Amino acid sequence: MSDTTLPTLPSPHDGERRVWLMAATAAGGVAAVATAVPFVSTFAPSERAKALGAAVTVDIGDIPPGGMKTVEWRGKPVWILRRTPAMLEGLSKHDADLADPRSAKDDLPEALRNPGRSVKPEVFVAIGICTHLGCAPNEVPAGSANPSVGADWPGGFFCPCHGSTFDLAGRVFKNKPAPTNLEIPPHRYLSDTQLLIGEADAA
Ligand code: FES
Repeated sequence: MSDTTLPTLPSPHDGERRVWLMAATAAGGVAAVATAVPFVSTFAPSERAKALGAAVTVDIGDIPPGGMKTVEWRGKPVWILRRTPAMLEGLSKHDADLADPRSAKDDLPEALRNPGRSVKPEVFVAIGICTHLGCAPNEVPAGSANPSVGADWPGGFFCPCHGSTFDLAGRVFKNKPAPTNLEIPPHRYLSDTQLLIGEADAA
């Protein structure tokens, strides 16, 4: 028995249907692109986010000996203290009272592995956030009448939340709640008076 099925002839409307399908597919593509653009843009860092993560240049030429400047980097306070010769000399006198005088627990680059925990001895840079629960310590100078520190207080920082104390290199004293020394942000010198917080020198 022969197959009597006849081949389907193109309908006069097939051409129109093909045009419509092509248009619909193209429109779908445009819609997909249109919806993809804002979707992708939500993953791109905003200008504000980029600004928050960016390195910060600080003029340190106006910090007098013994003075301190605080700047913001990544939403955190960063202290820059210009230590005096007397402050530097005092750093070597209380190692026995410190929890980690050699910064053994700190993740520090080689340039900061010294008693002052600094690139330049006189300029100390640290994040001003207590390593216990994140309060803001206060600077308490040597000879202060602050009753929260002892009479032999060498000068440093006192956290009012739970009483942790840090010396002028940000090293935590023993038997205090803070588990580690103050964190030091990456930084490098652009000149004698310009410091860049947020980028370190290449190792
Ligand atoms: S947050 Fe500083 S001692 Fe607790």
